[in-house]
Amino acid sequence: MIRLVADVEKEEKERQRKAVEAKLARELKPKRKTPLPLYIKTFYDKIYGNKKISKILDSVRLLRILTLGNSRRLIDASLREINPHAKVLQIGATFGDQLEQTAEKIGHYGRFDVMDISDLQLRRIEEKYKYLYPQMNFILGDGRSPITEKYDVVILYMLLHELPILSKIKVVNNALNSVNENGKVVFIDYYNPVWWHPLRYFVRMFNRLYQPFAEKLWDREIHTFADKKNDFFWKKRTYFGDMYQKVVASKKDEKIL
Ligand SMILES: C[S@@+](CC[C@H](N)C(=O)[O-])C[C@H]1O[C@@H](n2cnc3c(N)ncnc32)[C@H](O)[C@@H]1O
Repeated sequence: MIRLVADVEKEEKERQRKAVEAKLARELKPKRKTPLPLYIKTFYDKIYGNKKISKILDSVRLLRILTLGNSRRLIDASLREINPHAKVLQIGATFGDQLEQTAEKIGHYGRFDVMDISDLQLRRIEEKYKYLYPQMNFILGDGRSPITEKYDVVILYMLLHELPILSKIKVVNNALNSVNENGKVVFIDYYNPVWWHPLRYFVRMFNRLYQPFAEKLWDREIHTFADKKNDFFWKKRTYFGDMYQKVVASKKDEKIL
């Protein structure tokens, strides 16, 4: 009889131990990753899904060469639209120093949320910046899904050209819906190089081979993707013979900076 009680106690302890282990395993299990969309899997996973290539591309000097010196100009163009202490969201991480320049401009009293759909890219920037810029938050998310927070500025830096048309429309509309009453969305992206641009045909060929959704930005203005385009003032500036554009959609009628 005594033995039986001991057995029951032992069984109960064992049951409790297993329950605790199962709970811990549930809690420690990594959160489900956002599934990568087909356009990333097909065209961009070699870069965004590869740590080594991402590390190579994450070089300010290399980006300057690849953009023929324009990366600095484009970063400055986006920074001019941000005030210190602002609450800013960027959809899509970038290589080089665009994120840190933006975090510096916002400062420690602002807030800088960076959303990316790729777990690897998000971890890359989190490791790089989490101790340097406490104002930065790293969000694993899809810019095509509605965003609940409101921001002073939403940045889409070289993201739109990578997206197929329906995703472009979703991301543009989500960005516009997530600015507050005085807010703005800043788009930095490719545009339509002037006909005499020495690189026009090279870029077109490159796009057709490797970036099939980029040419839509040659044919269509960004405001044509917006459902409520009349709720915003749209301003545009172009750079490097119209190779690049900055478009600002703001709730208030402001000068483009
Ligand atoms: C912002 S783009 C630009 C990268 C560019 N080559 C650069 O550094 O200038 C690339 C990033 O956007 C992310 N991305 C693509 N589609 C996304 C989406 N729907 N939502 C959030 N992030 C996305 C990719 O995972 C990638 O990290």
